[in-house]
Amino acid sequence: MTTELFNDIQHDDACLQQLGQMIADFCGLYYLDNLSLLASKVSNRLSTLNMTLEAYTEFLARNPQEWNHLVELITNNETYFFREESQLNELCSVILPQFRHKSRIRIWSAACSTGEEPYSLAMTIAESGIVPLESIHIIATDINGKVLHIANRGWYHKNSLCFRRTPEEMLAKYFFPQEEGFQIKSDIKDRVEFRLSNLLQDEEMAADEPFDVIFCRNVLIYFNSGTTRRVISKFYDRLNPGGYLFLGHAETITGMNTNFETINGQATFYYRKRNADS
Ligand SMILES: C[S@@+](CC[C@H](N)C(=O)[O-])C[C@H]1O[C@@H](n2cnc3c(N)ncnc32)[C@H](O)[C@@H]1O
Repeated sequence: MTTELFNDIQHDDACLQQLGQMIADFCGLYYLDNLSLLASKVSNRLSTLNMTLEAYTEFLARNPQEWNHLVELITNNETYFFREESQLNELCSVILPQFRHKSRIRIWSAACSTGEEPYSLAMTIAESGIVPLESIHIIATDINGKVLHIANRGWYHKNSLCFRRTPEEMLAKYFFPQEEGFQIKSDIKDRVEFRLSNLLQDEEMAADEPFDVIFCRNVLIYFNSGTTRRVISKFYDRLNPGGYLFLGHAETITGMNTNFETINGQATFYYRKRNADS
């Protein structure tokens, strides 16, 4: 891309503002307070399409499939195995024993990126032995089709930073070496179902059975408070009474006046859906 084109984009404030608003409305990602970052993210795409920013916003409005490209440019997909491990441990030591009587435990890993989160959940549960692994059904969703493709494959390069917190014994037990990396074993992989889904437009998830636990970590930080409220209220509706919600450590809904109670666990906190009458 030429410096000239980049400067044009940077200075087209009204169009950047319009694109930022379209993105916030579509998927919640809030670039309206950092338009120069948005300009840097979309500039190569504009140069590939040979379009001005104004032409691109019109093109996007008329071609919904362009969102698939744009989403790949504007999402941050950083993740790794066993992230915020205290939450995984809390799930196994405190929450799963409450669900022992259930033949099927449903967990939603919302905004799962390349799959490290749902696979870490399945591995930690398998390791705990608290419930049979076969009783676990993890639905893992993301808006970005490219990362879901990687997640679905379940193969990760041996030098990838995704292994930075993976204990050697877990690597040896739940992966097998393949080519230049490691492949998740099928008993873990089979517990996870990946789906392309936008947290702001996922009516199909509402038609599904409710969940016992939802993990939605490190995505609400990119939303504004209005969108966060909307997504949290959706999680509330999609949980069984007494179900649990885990957010990232930098994310909190305390003070939002929701019907979740905050649970202080071992080195972490999370939320529990109150029963309708409590
Ligand atoms: C930083 S990653 C977090 C991955 C994982 N939850 C973790 O904590 O390691 C954020 C993910 O949120 C996804 N995302 C952003 N907006 C979304 C939306 N509206 N619906 C679904 N996924 C979204 C991105 O594609 C990205 O993969």
